[in-house]
Amino acid sequence: MSPTSTGPLRHFLQLRDFSRAELQYIFKRARLIKDKFKRYQPHHTLHDRTLAMVFEKASTRTRVSFEAGMYQLGGSVIHLTTTDSQLGRSEPIEDTARVVSRMVDLVMIRTFEQTRLERFASHSRVPVINGLTNEYHPCQILADIFTWIEHRGSIQGRTVAWIGDANNMAYTWLQAAELLDFVVHVSGPPGYQLDPDRVRDLDPAHFKVFDSPDDACRGADLVTTDVWTSMGYEAENDERRRAFADWCVDMDMMDHAAPNALFMHCLPAHRGEEVTADVIDGPQSVVWDEAENRLHVQKALMEFLILGPQDTPAA
Ligand code: CP
Repeated sequence: MSPTSTGPLRHFLQLRDFSRAELQYIFKRARLIKDKFKRYQPHHTLHDRTLAMVFEKASTRTRVSFEAGMYQLGGSVIHLTTTDSQLGRSEPIEDTARVVSRMVDLVMIRTFEQTRLERFASHSRVPVINGLTNEYHPCQILADIFTWIEHRGSIQGRTVAWIGDANNMAYTWLQAAELLDFVVHVSGPPGYQLDPDRVRDLDPAHFKVFDSPDDACRGADLVTTDVWTSMGYEAENDERRRAFADWCVDMDMMDHAAPNALFMHCLPAHRGEEVTADVIDGPQSVVWDEAENRLHVQKALMEFLILGPQDTPAA
């Protein structure tokens, strides 16, 4: 076991692994870390620490933000993929976890099933971060909510409209709503809606399902969406294009939301599919802040998992 300086081994496999107070700490710490970054002030709290990143799916933002982030914290990074490691030659994930976690201080994994991530974590001596699974994308939601806070303040009591596929982002928004006390309106086409088995243990006060995307957007403070075909589902591409045709976030849909509503998209985006160019490139869109904030919130997250909470401003 490799405990933090203040407590036992912690992982971040889904958003609900953290309490509301811990999420609020991460947002506050990310604010300080971002401010220092903007002033070119060093923040080397993870000097001599090493992050291993394991990618079993493609990435731009997750790779760059974790890699740049760890270097900016004074540490170093090892990048592994399925094809350039023994994972691609059937080494069990448990054995990989046992070995890698004896050599580094932290592991971030992007993989397929959540159970695969959990198997790694249960054999790891060091904290493990979910860099996206089929089921959840908690680092992205940290960035999204931090971005909301920067633009609008607390998200408590607000309404978020999720338009499109009931994918890993949608389920992570639902966990966030319960933890941080807001409501998610969800609308997707038949066949791509929330799985009743996966929402059974969620508080129904924090989400509502709509057949019509316009109704889901009505009065929303934030409208957000994602690609129609997530990684791993490419064989369904044509079928999904047909099914999702009416779930494209356009200006008409945004007009149903609150007058000062924001638009978010975790990226990469397909203009003309899940969102029109005038929305994603328009004045309500905060997608570039959202992407940048992956860097700042994940620096706070890595620091928290290795060192525990830092009560005083770091040098
Ligand atoms: N949003 C996101 O996770 O982006 P990447 O797939 O590029 O990492």
